Amino acid sequence: MNYNLAVIKGDGIGPEIVTVAMRVLDKVGEVYGHTFNYNEILMGGCSIDKYGDPLTDEAIEIAKSSDAVLLGSIGGNTATSPWYKLPPEKRPEAGLLKIRKSLGLFANLRPAYLYPELKDACPLKAEVAERGFDMMMMRELTGGLYFGERYTKEIDGVMTAVDTLTYNENEIRRIAIKGFDIAMKRRKKVTLIDKANVLDSSRLWRKVTEEVAKDYPEVEYGVMLVDNAAMQLVKDPAQFDVVLTENMFGDILSDEASQITGSIGMLPSASLNETKFGMYEPSGGSAPDIAGKNIANPIATVLSAAMMLRYSFDLDKEADAIENAVKKVLADGIRTIDIAKPGEPQVKCDEMGDLIIERIK
Ligand code: IPM
Ligand code: MG
Repeated sequence: MNYNLAVIKGDGIGPEIVTVAMRVLDKVGEVYGHTFNYNEILMGGCSIDKYGDPLTDEAIEIAKSSDAVLLGSIGGNTATSPWYKLPPEKRPEAGLLKIRKSLGLFANLRPAYLYPELKDACPLKAEVAERGFDMMMMRELTGGLYFGERYTKEIDGVMTAVDTLTYNENEIRRIAIKGFDIAMKRRKKVTLIDKANVLDSSRLWRKVTEEVAKDYPEVEYGVMLVDNAAMQLVKDPAQFDVVLTENMFGDILSDEASQITGSIGMLPSASLNETKFGMYEPSGGSAPDIAGKNIANPIATVLSAAMMLRYSFDLDKEADAIENAVKKVLADGIRTIDIAKPGEPQVKCDEMGDLIIERIK
């Protein structure tokens, strides 16, 4: 088959890690008889530098007309980069929020899995790491605080900032259904994370999700308050399978979930709409401090490409081939700097790519 991908390399380490993922896809294409065509578009700081806009309408059109989007990372150092002197709607992150909204990518999947080979990199107690964990963080991505009305103005002589958190039942239902569908393919457990002891929006999430749960009698459904969830993630992460939550809680908890896997450089993600269309990107950021040094870990991006094959193109055996090649490099002791133990030999970003490609069968 022929697949047309919009590719956003972005800023920082983005170009290095995406280049590796494209080479991996080419190898998969060669072995399994597919062609991946790449249409590169700009987003984030590089687009600001070229067009004065973090994401142009032309770029959105190209993304929309593609079969899927492969993304690296965007943004720079928020303390020092001139991009952060611009008004908020002109900054790199505005491009990311705009593409999520324009493409209707409401379901963000961030699998957090502890590879047995990386148990030593896990910052949790040895007995917790020993038990391992394998969860799917499902974060709502186009609603809530990120997209509610916001403003800063003087009210009664006092400078006041307002951000609004709005969800309607349809926005909740569609991601809850996706969450339960995914749970059916996993260990059949869904935990809804909310703040229903305080927030109306959370109470609506509970009501709607409970209704959806009735259609999935095989799935064990439970709820947990977000402050407790932050604790449980470090105390007993093995209890979670699918973790369903709203945008802001999901942003925070998914970083926590990624860190306990040992390195954010290992975690892929998928952002999906109602159809099979999706945008695939590593969960980590643009890491401007190590950009251009060829030391970034490309595995998260490579695994994101595998998620693309699985979720957008139904190419399960091709996705397995990538995931197995990644497992093999780890089993063979191949490490980038972020996952190497002190004194262990380290490979560069592009070498990690070569070694994964060698193992694709
Ligand atoms: C993420 C990032 C973004 C978010 C930022 C860059 C706007 O942290 O994808 O988790 O908050 O969604
Ligand atoms: Mg985040």
